[in-house]
Amino acid sequence: MSKSGAHGAPPQPLTAIKAAAGLKGTLRVPGDKSISHRALMFGALATGKTTIKGLLEAEDVLNTAKAVTALGAPATKSGDTWTVLGRGTGGLKQPESPIDFGNSGTGTRLMMGVIAGHDITVAMEGDASLSRRPMGRVLKPLRQMGLLTREDRDTLPLTVEGSSHLVPIEYSLPVPSAQVKSAILIAGLMAAGETTVVEKEPTRDHTERMLRYFGADVETERRDGLTRITVHGDAELEARDVVVPGDPSSAAFLICAALLVPGSDITVEGVLINETRTGLYTTLKDMGADISFLNEREEGGEPIADICARHSKLQGVHVPADRAPSMIDEYPVLAAVAGFAQGDTRMDGLAELKVKESDRLAATAAGLAANGVRATVDGDTLIVHGGGKVAGGGTVATHLDHRIAMAFLTMGLASDAPITVDDTAMIATSFPEFRGLMERLGATYEI
Ligand code: S3P
Repeated sequence: MSKSGAHGAPPQPLTAIKAAAGLKGTLRVPGDKSISHRALMFGALATGKTTIKGLLEAEDVLNTAKAVTALGAPATKSGDTWTVLGRGTGGLKQPESPIDFGNSGTGTRLMMGVIAGHDITVAMEGDASLSRRPMGRVLKPLRQMGLLTREDRDTLPLTVEGSSHLVPIEYSLPVPSAQVKSAILIAGLMAAGETTVVEKEPTRDHTERMLRYFGADVETERRDGLTRITVHGDAELEARDVVVPGDPSSAAFLICAALLVPGSDITVEGVLINETRTGLYTTLKDMGADISFLNEREEGGEPIADICARHSKLQGVHVPADRAPSMIDEYPVLAAVAGFAQGDTRMDGLAELKVKESDRLAATAAGLAANGVRATVDGDTLIVHGGGKVAGGGTVATHLDHRIAMAFLTMGLASDAPITVDDTAMIATSFPEFRGLMERLGATYEI
């Protein structure tokens, strides 16, 4: 277990106790993290004043707000609304000091695309987890377009030099990553000509949707099993009013807790149900979960619904590899749920899990083992051998990873013995309200 937690501070362990009664209630989760980052960045690249309601106020996104401010596009909050004073594409300025992206891969990688199109030099840094994560996947295509890095490495800290003369490219994604796709498309806004990204497996499409909303020319074409996304360069974005829907990756913990705790019946209102994000919900329904999407509607160019979940008896299922991009952040909590199902749940195509905030495949498998759940890792496959119930009683090493912490704090609400996670500080990077909302539903946690 780690001796120091997030930011070098003493770790903040927490223990989840088996719920004595069903979880009940109707609530909302904070705004979607992916959409929040993009709203701030596109607001900074637009001309005029963008307003954002429902922005996720978690560390990752607040670091992006600080980053756009440092680049000359101040992001500020008044009442319940954030405002970004945009400088136009190519209009951002050189920051006075290094920019710290904390724990956020999305903030870092997308911002590399933003910086790429400007004649500025920016020192980018992050925490211990972020400094281990691969940036070469974004730097390779951005270097082809004209970005330079002073250091000869592909991890933070890095000093990056953009250019007002970017070259457009066509790029086939070697890994299914919306972050890589987005960084290239954002840089493409500022290149002279058309930039195209080709993806084999569709990844989350918030960049494409929101860029269109801000007035950019973005075309998506599906042909021969491939998706080609083309952005027209020398683009001008216009300031917009953005409403951020609830984050389905945060709602996942509440929904899964309700499925596991007998007698539960909860509703999470206003959750994003864009099909590039709902693989977990498809999987849970395959397992026999009583989940329904009510009041389906559209808000700010994205589909949303109220998600209703009740305690359910679950069966193990096969989760195919091609579903991974639409639920990539949800495997730790799915693995926790699968421990309570009858039979094996086989999850294929998990290579990308190894390069998240931690090696999530290893961290998840270790957390399951610590709590008496049999699991097998075979290459990029995780098989959880569910036995209908979970012993619990273990302590989980979270490795500076918010989703590992939340997944096992969900599992411990239904395991026979309590489950402890070694550090909860990182939960603030994506879902600071996690514990409070779980407790509102009736969950019990002890320090
Ligand atoms: C994100 C994309 C995903 C996801 C991350 C957010 C985004 O990463 O894991 O939490 O906002 O584009 P990859 O694109 O690297 O898979």
